[in-house]
Parts: sequence; C-alpha cells; structure tokens
Amino acid sequence: MMSPQPTAPVVGNRYSGTYVLRLTFVAALGGLLFGYDTAVISGAIGFLRSHFTLNAAETGWAAASALVGCVIGAGFAGEFSDRFGRKRALLVSGVLFLVSAVWSAIPETTAEFVTARIIGGVGIGMASLLSPLYISEISPAGIRGKLVSYNQLAIVGGILVVYFVNYLIAGLGSEEWNIERGWRWMFGSEALPASLFILALLTIPETPRWLVKQGQEDRARSILDKTIGPGNALIELHAIRETLALEGGTVAELFRPGLRKAMLLGVALAILQQITGINVFMYYAPEIFKQLGSGVDSALLQTVVIGIFNLTFTAVAIRTVDRWGRKPLLLYGSAGMGISLLGLGAAAYFGTTAGWVLIFVLGYIACFAMSVGPVVWVVISEIFPTKVRGRAMSIATLLLWTANFLISQTFPMIDEDPWLVTHFNHGFPFFLYAAFCAIMVFVVRLSVPETKGKSLEEIERSWLQPGMTGRKSRGGR
Ligand code: BGC
Repeated sequence: MMSPQPTAPVVGNRYSGTYVLRLTFVAALGGLLFGYDTAVISGAIGFLRSHFTLNAAETGWAAASALVGCVIGAGFAGEFSDRFGRKRALLVSGVLFLVSAVWSAIPETTAEFVTARIIGGVGIGMASLLSPLYISEISPAGIRGKLVSYNQLAIVGGILVVYFVNYLIAGLGSEEWNIERGWRWMFGSEALPASLFILALLTIPETPRWLVKQGQEDRARSILDKTIGPGNALIELHAIRETLALEGGTVAELFRPGLRKAMLLGVALAILQQITGINVFMYYAPEIFKQLGSGVDSALLQTVVIGIFNLTFTAVAIRTVDRWGRKPLLLYGSAGMGISLLGLGAAAYFGTTAGWVLIFVLGYIACFAMSVGPVVWVVISEIFPTKVRGRAMSIATLLLWTANFLISQTFPMIDEDPWLVTHFNHGFPFFLYAAFCAIMVFVVRLSVPETKGKSLEEIERSWLQPGMTGRKSRGGR
C-alpha cells in the first residue's frame, strides 16, 4: 500500500518547478495570515480586557468574534471565486486582512474593535479555502498533495510566528504600556504580512482551470506550459475542456448521485477535522497543561513546544502525502489521535499530573499534523468539479468553521460541567473527541478514494464513472 510512487511530472516534458513553487508560496501566504490572525488574539486578550475593562462575556466575544467572520468569509468566498476568479478573491481576502490589522490597532471602543476583528475573520474564512483551492488548481498532479500541504505548514508557521511577535512586543514595555499600547502593535503587526500578500498576489496569474471555464484557453495554455510543460499542457487542456463539458455548473449538481458522495465526504471530513479537538489544544493549551499540573511558565513553554511539533510533523505529511497517499495518512493519523486522546483522557480521569502526560498531547499533535491537518485540506481541494469547486469548498469550509466555533465554545462548559467532573474528572472532553476519531477512521476507511497522482479531471470523472477510480494519471501530472 505504501510503495513509493513517482512524484515528478512527465519525463521529457519541461516544466518549471520553481514557477509552481513560487505560485504556491504566494498563495500559501494566505495560510500564513490565517494562522497569524487566528492566534494573534491569544497574546493580546489579557491587555485588551484591562484596556476596555471587559467582563467575562465581553472578553469571550472579543476573542471569538473573528470566528463569526470566518463563517461568513468561508460562506461567500466560493461563489465569489467561481464568478470572479481565484486570484481576485484572494486579493479581496488580502485587503480585508490589511483593513482589519490597521483598524483593530486603533479602535476607540469595543464595538469598533469587534467590527475590525470580524472583518479580519472574513479574510481568514476566505483565505482558508482559497489558498488550498488555488494551489490545487495550479499543481501538477504528482505533487499536488505536497504543494497543498505547504499551505498547512504556512498556517502553523503563522501561528508560531505570532506567538513570538506577541512575546517580543509584550517585552518592549511595562504592564501599563502593554495595556495602553502593546496590544495595538500586536494586531497592527499583521499589516506587514498582509501588505506583502497583496503585493505578491499581483504577480501571480489566474488558475488555468478557472480560465478554461471562462473560455480563456490561450491564457490557460500559457500557464499550463509553465506548470506542467508544453507537451502535457495540450493533453491537460483537452482533459479540462472535456470534463468541464460534463458539468452543468450549478450547486444542485453536487447533490446528484455520484457527486453527492463527494459533497458528503467533503463535509464529513471538514467537520471531523474540527470535532476531533485540534483547536481545543490550539486555543486552550496552557489551561490544559495547568490542569495537568504544570506551572504558568512551563505551561507557556509547553505551548510553544506544541507549535514546534505541529510544524515539524506537517513536514512529514509534505514528504509522504504523494507517496503513501491521502488515505493511509488519514487512517493512521486519526487512529493515532484517538489513541493519544484516550491516554490523555485516562490521565485526566485518574488525576495524573506527571510530566510524561505531555507525551499524549504531543502524540496527538504529531498525528494531526502529519495527517488530518493538511490532508483534509488536500482532499477537499481536489474532490469537487471545477465549475462549482469554489462553492462546494465553501459549503465544506463554512461547516468546518462552524464546527470549530462549537467545539471551542463548548470545551470549557464540558470540561467544568459538575456532573461530568464527578463521573469523569476532567477526562470527558478527551474521551468524546477520541470517539469522533473512531468515527473518522470509519469514514476514511469506507469512503475516501485514493487521489494521489490523479489529475483533478480524473478525480472528477471517477465520481461519475466509478469504474475509473483505479486508473493512473498520464505520467503523474
Ligand atoms: C485547521 C485549523 C487549525 C490548524 C492548526 C488547520 O488545518 O483547519 O482549525 O487551527 O490546522 O494546525
């Protein structure tokens, strides 16, 4: 099952690896901003609370308001990108990041701050689906998994970078200075990557698939020449044109037999990526560590260790996703996450406070990072038909953000519920997320098709004509 597969495009056909990588890196800046903007709040919220003298509910809203924007952004980015293009949609997300960065640094009232954060959230929601979508549509098939996984690396990188930026800014002045000004710089610092993103976007083209859909074949051809080589470009152009002719282009099509399976799978994976608990660790790690017996400083340090693990193991996915395939990674990854959660749940249940409990947390993060984190984005960026890919990804991503919101909002309630604490100590949430991992193993085993090495057109046809799923791509494009 895990035999190495060729990961390079067709021999004898010149293409520019550097060009594809450059486009990938530009689009992945959207992922970096996604990570940066979701995590910036963690270092700023305490100072912000003091500055505006917020009560508990207001603090929660100041922190979570961006997630509401994410749901909105994910909801309309697809339609926008199907109509106006992937590049224009990415540009809009970049501008929203920039406006939000500047405005959330200078608000006079909480209402202004929350509005600025919701605008940033819309940017995150948009970029969360547009970056993988763009990368997927410009990638040669044989390295598509790897290139889309770079986006996950950028998300995690963005989270880590902002931890350090927050830490550095907080160190620049006293507590009073941080309450008055420090938090403003934390949010404002995002203007730098956001401006870079906008400028870099101006240098990249539309995706060839979207261009063919718009009837702009010459432009599509010249980009394909560079991404997969002139010989392959012609074959690919033909395949894209033929496959597009099979599509009606309406969302209703996604609910027809055949493609309905793809839609259900995309939605299931998106929700499962969240309800297996990742963001409980991303958002509450220091609290969890304190519950397991760590002091404040070591809890913060362990949180950084989590970030480093997350980054390192994403690199494993990058190396393996096109060789081993999506399915084995998802299977072993979700099983590993489930086992780690059971261990963690048991430790919390028995009130164990020993340092080795960290192993379960790191095991969970490592398994997530090499599988469910990147690979879910890879799969949902490649299983939908071109004409409605944006809208279909929107549905899946909107539900992903909704699930994120529900899980991160309910964790403290479940964790502190008196009845659950009496019966499970603090183990219940972890047991619950472990049960979702078991469901994920089933879903993956039963319904994830192996898409490594197949062109987007081959994947699309395989839903409509299931007999074709086993066919190999022409030369791993
Ligand atoms: C998920 C995010 C998560 C991030 C952490 C992404 O794949 O969609 O919800 O915060 O990974 O690594």
